[in-house]
Amino acid sequence: MKDSRNSIIGFHITLYFLFIFILNILHVFATVPTRHLCHSDQRDAIVEFKNEFKILKPCFDSPSPLKTASWAKNSDCCYWDGITCNNKSGDVIELDLSFNCLHGLVNSKRSILSLQTLRFLTTLRLSNNYLSGQIPSSFGSLSNLTTLDLYSNYFSGRIPSSLGNLSHLTSLVLSFNSFVGEIPFSLGNLSHLTYLDLSINDFSGTLPSSLFTVPSLDTICLENNQFNGTLVLGNISSSSKLVELRLGSNNFIGPLPRDVSKFVKLELLDLSHFNTQGSVDFSIFSHLKSLRNLYLSHLNTTTMIDLIEMLSCFKALDTLDLSGNHVSTKNKSSFSTPPLVLISVLYLSECGIIEFPEILRTLHKMTNLDISNNKIKGQVPGWLWTLSDLMIVNLSNNSFIGFKRSTKTGLSATASESSMMYLFASNNNFTGKIPSFICALRSLRTIDLSNNNFVGRIPRCMVNLKGTLSALNLRQNRLSGGLPHIIFGSMKSLDIGRNQLVGKLPRSLSRLSFLEVLNVESNKINDTFPYWLSSLQNLQVLVLRSNAFYGPVQLSQFPKLQIIDISHNHFNGILPSDCFVNWTSMFALGKNEDQYISIGYYFASMVLMNKGIEMELLRVPKIFTAIDFSGNKFEGEIPKSISLLKELHVLNLSNNAFIGHIASSMRNLTALESLDVSQNKLSGKIPQELGKLSYLAYMNFSHNQLVGEVPGGTQFRRQPCSSFEENMGLYGPSLDEVCVDFHSKTTGEADTPELEANKDEEEVLSWIATIIGFILGIAFGLTIAYIMFSYKPKWFKNPF
Ligand SMILES: *[C@@H]1O[C@H](CO)[C@@H](O)[C@H](O)[C@H]1NC(C)=O
Ligand SMILES: *[C@@H]1O[C@H](CO)[C@@H](O)[C@H](O)[C@H]1NC(C)=O
Ligand SMILES: *[C@@H]1O[C@H](CO)[C@@H](O)[C@H](O)[C@H]1NC(C)=O
Ligand SMILES: *[C@@H]1O[C@H](CO)[C@@H](O)[C@H](O)[C@H]1NC(C)=O
Ligand SMILES: *[C@@H]1O[C@H](CO)[C@@H](O)[C@H](O)[C@H]1NC(C)=O
Ligand SMILES: *[C@@H]1O[C@H](CO)[C@@H](O)[C@H](O)[C@H]1NC(C)=O
Ligand SMILES: *[C@@H]1O[C@H](CO)[C@@H](O)[C@H](O)[C@H]1NC(C)=O
Repeated sequence: MKDSRNSIIGFHITLYFLFIFILNILHVFATVPTRHLCHSDQRDAIVEFKNEFKILKPCFDSPSPLKTASWAKNSDCCYWDGITCNNKSGDVIELDLSFNCLHGLVNSKRSILSLQTLRFLTTLRLSNNYLSGQIPSSFGSLSNLTTLDLYSNYFSGRIPSSLGNLSHLTSLVLSFNSFVGEIPFSLGNLSHLTYLDLSINDFSGTLPSSLFTVPSLDTICLENNQFNGTLVLGNISSSSKLVELRLGSNNFIGPLPRDVSKFVKLELLDLSHFNTQGSVDFSIFSHLKSLRNLYLSHLNTTTMIDLIEMLSCFKALDTLDLSGNHVSTKNKSSFSTPPLVLISVLYLSECGIIEFPEILRTLHKMTNLDISNNKIKGQVPGWLWTLSDLMIVNLSNNSFIGFKRSTKTGLSATASESSMMYLFASNNNFTGKIPSFICALRSLRTIDLSNNNFVGRIPRCMVNLKGTLSALNLRQNRLSGGLPHIIFGSMKSLDIGRNQLVGKLPRSLSRLSFLEVLNVESNKINDTFPYWLSSLQNLQVLVLRSNAFYGPVQLSQFPKLQIIDISHNHFNGILPSDCFVNWTSMFALGKNEDQYISIGYYFASMVLMNKGIEMELLRVPKIFTAIDFSGNKFEGEIPKSISLLKELHVLNLSNNAFIGHIASSMRNLTALESLDVSQNKLSGKIPQELGKLSYLAYMNFSHNQLVGEVPGGTQFRRQPCSSFEENMGLYGPSLDEVCVDFHSKTTGEADTPELEANKDEEEVLSWIATIIGFILGIAFGLTIAYIMFSYKPKWFKNPF
């Protein structure tokens, strides 16, 4: 019985597998190319086109494997990734090499020749690569093209007017490159164009009005260029299909074009930074009943915008940006029937508002409110927290003094249902204790209350936010008492610097395994070095500056650290020579697409000594590295392993008791910009190799026991005399240039009567040299700061 049952089961299994097998065979036959193989000339042209470029590895945001990885030479090219062939003719009609890490010039002779063979192409996508060069005018002969997408590359030069010959073109995307020059009039001939995106380039000149009269267009994106002159839209037909018109952040001047009112289908209009130089008639927008997103920031107009009128006019509006204009939030005929509006995003930054607009109370759908940079005094109204969809609110840079409580039951009941995630309230005049109702806003991710006058302890109830809070900034207040046990598992950035906090760092900090930034600068914390933080694998910034920390430090771990400032404490002891061997993030920087340390909408900021001046980083670049151990009592030699930190920018060991020689291996610190070892007990020579550190703009060897010839090189010659003063015996041509009275002081030679006679004069000179050096130092510092602030990420959209 058992046997026969088994054999029946066995038979069924066999049958089942046979069935699967047959299905598979059928499937294979079904997918085998049954019709045309790819034409060999076209296949060769594609391969040749691709081979004109290098494939960068690694490269970012590319899928792996890359499309071209599937391009084996002998298989049918119609089945390669990124290629589509015409079903009947077998001609290659689509070539999509986006996100393929391609690097190189696109207008080489060969790539142009290969493109000419591909004349059947209807779609050419090369977006998100590293391609450069100009668009070859032969693109104009790809006469079947309907889609040309070159988004996010390094293309430059002008658009060839031959693109106007691509009469079938429906979509042209050239945004996020470095194109220059005017837009050719011929683009106005593209009568099938529906989508035109030339944003984020350096195009200039006036816009051909023919562009706006192309009847098929539904989207025009020209924002973030240098277009100038007055804007003329031409004779727009009321049947225009235009839905999206982005012209913001250019150099347009003069009145806003009235004809914009004829684009009755418009859903998005961006005219921000239009230099209207006078009055604006905002009624021109009143016909645009479909508008959902309206960006009108910084119009340089004297006209006062009536917010209530505006909101009543556009009832379907979702986003309204009026920042940088004069906005009145009070209606003359006070609103008895509040406008029924669905607005969710409202930007009113820098609008000269002096009272919290009561109208906002009625905007129940609001999710984002930016009312920063105004002159609002008094209390933040309690009803703000009852807007149940509000997620992001920016109250920064006003004159608020407190948070008004709404009725007891009302607030605590509604607050727990609040959606509030980001609360920015820095740079106000808030006084008193941090209000505990904040602890009831259970969705909070970011709280920034920095630069206010809050007093008292950090409220213990904040523990309630442990599930969500990831950034807390209480910097520069007058908070006192000890630090509560902060057990917010999600915390990434904690800044409590510049208060009057005492006691020890709570050991529970070591459980914040996502922590990236810890800044307790300028408090009165009296503790040993928190070596227990070394378990935090993500810690990038650690600032203990100006507290009462004491004892030896243990630095062996900290793999992600990029900025450490433990200056002005009472640390002592010898740093072991291998103490930096695990600081791998300072060995070589990963190429980071995120330019700054940020947590959602929150950017970490900090203050740091660099090149002798206090530098404020409003955003901390991920490529910036610094070690500041100055003003402690460290002894022993400078750890040899410091030479491993090839990406170190700032090193300050001044004002300690370091002994021994400066190692010549410090020449390996090729990224170093600022080196301060002054006020130690270093002996021996300054290694000649340091003269080759070409970024080293600031250095200070003063107040040590150094001897010998100061290295040459432009950087050493640029230092003021005071960078070398008070040593045992430094000399050399570098010094002769900057220190007129230097030899007499440092080589110990007795002053001759002749020198004595000149001494006053020399002192004046050396004093002048110091001043010049100081000014140079500031100039360097400012330059660096400027570069850091202006370093524009490739695609940065204000998230707010
Ligand atoms: C393409 O455009 C250019 C410049 O606009 C023009 O000179 C040329 O004759 C056109 N070529 C064809 C084939 O239409
Ligand atoms: C604008 O176009 C309309 C219809 O397309 C035409 O009747 C009118 O004359 C044109 N106006 C101008 C100034 O060209
Ligand atoms: C730190 O605390 C210890 C006692 O715990 C005390 O002796 C020492 O003076 C304090 N240091 C400072 C700088 O306040
Ligand atoms: C190094 O630190 C000392 C003391 O903290 C400070 O005075 C000096 O300006 C710093 N050096 C540089 C180059 O920033
Ligand atoms: C300095 O760099 C060179 C070459 O990069 C390397 O061979 C040497 O080991 C480095 N020295 C130290 C002490 O890191
Ligand atoms: C170098 O350091 C000494 C002592 O720390 C200071 O007096 C001098 O001004 C510094 N020189 C420069 C150029 O900053
Ligand atoms: C809040 O407003 C301030 C002042 O306008 C601005 O600097 C900051 O970037 C804003 N924050 C966000 C998240 O937009």
